[in-house]
Amino acid sequence: MTDEASANTSTGRQRAAVLRGLGTHLPSRTVTNEELSQRLDTSDEWIRTRTGIRQRYWAEQGTATGDLATEAGTRALKAAGCDGVDAVILATSTPDHHCPGTAPDVAARLELGTVPAFDISAVCAGFVYALATAAGTIAAGIAERVLVIGAETYSTILDPQDRNTSVIFGDGAGAVVLEAGAADEPGALLGFDLGSDGRYKDLITVPAGGSRQRAQGPEDDPSQFCFTMQGKQVFTHAVTRMGESSEALLGRVGWSAESVDRFVGHQANVRILHALSDQLGIDRDRAVVNLDRVGNTSAASIPLALADGVNSKEIKAGDRVLMTAFGGGLTWGSTALIWPDINVV
Ligand code: UT7
Repeated sequence: MTDEASANTSTGRQRAAVLRGLGTHLPSRTVTNEELSQRLDTSDEWIRTRTGIRQRYWAEQGTATGDLATEAGTRALKAAGCDGVDAVILATSTPDHHCPGTAPDVAARLELGTVPAFDISAVCAGFVYALATAAGTIAAGIAERVLVIGAETYSTILDPQDRNTSVIFGDGAGAVVLEAGAADEPGALLGFDLGSDGRYKDLITVPAGGSRQRAQGPEDDPSQFCFTMQGKQVFTHAVTRMGESSEALLGRVGWSAESVDRFVGHQANVRILHALSDQLGIDRDRAVVNLDRVGNTSAASIPLALADGVNSKEIKAGDRVLMTAFGGGLTWGSTALIWPDINVV
């Protein structure tokens, strides 16, 4: 345990990971529903009414997840007013390469020295998994400060002919700096509920390209290397799993659903967010919604929604904020905090 960790113990205040700054980055290219309707058998009306999405951002050719992550990381460090951390954790399911991880490159580009840096692959729940990993690392006294990033370029794995997925996903990145502090101060992550159910791994998958279904060469079907999703079944699981996880987390933290000021759910579909709000007994207008502008950005979804919530003044210092996410694996996770008075860049 570091000196700082023992100091907290000696003051009698429980050590916790505390949010110090938030930064985001979106690619410059906006893709509207109208644009997609020109090349796919879909319409703005279908996409808006079935998902709530109006537009998303797709990275230009040549821009990789690590590029977006580096931008968001730069902004999070600036927001937190710090130029160094003890670890970098990057949640992504669209890494720059199968091997090595993308985080070490991001850490090097951020000039963070030789700190530990690794990726977490938990699809759309990745950011909450990464927060939990960082919080555990801080609680154990292994690190004082951790940069946690969620970044994705789903546009690179979408099948351009598949209207089931192409209209939903967007690219982007969000990052936070967590620092050791006290469990009773604003910004402290108050607890976690995490889960997975691999029996349903095929509901969301990129079938080929890994060791299970290897690339064979010219006879490969390119669509097998693209993202696939059984939307209807995933919808049902998303509502059930995020609902149960949120309830477990609220119980652990000791908050009633009515006392939650802002509900930040994974931005997959506005109908999922409404169903979840109703199930939990949280007013629908307490749910932060930014999927209309950014689509489903997988591991970047929660930090992008937090930033939009703060910028639109829906999330204010002192608010009780509940976050919950769900994704392929299946994986899910929830956490909560009292929103701190921090910069968002
Ligand atoms: O981020 C990880 C977690 N992901 C999620 O949580 C996503 C959860 N799933 C969903 O959000 C929804 O299931 C979707 C938005 C993906 C699909 O909406 P849905 O209401 O479940 O539609 P569906 O898949 O049941 O399809 C209904 C109809 C079908 O036509 P038929 O069979 O009724 O004639 C589809 O072929 O809508 C058709 N359809 C489309 N039509 C126009 C599917 N995609 C489109 C499209 N445009 N883009």
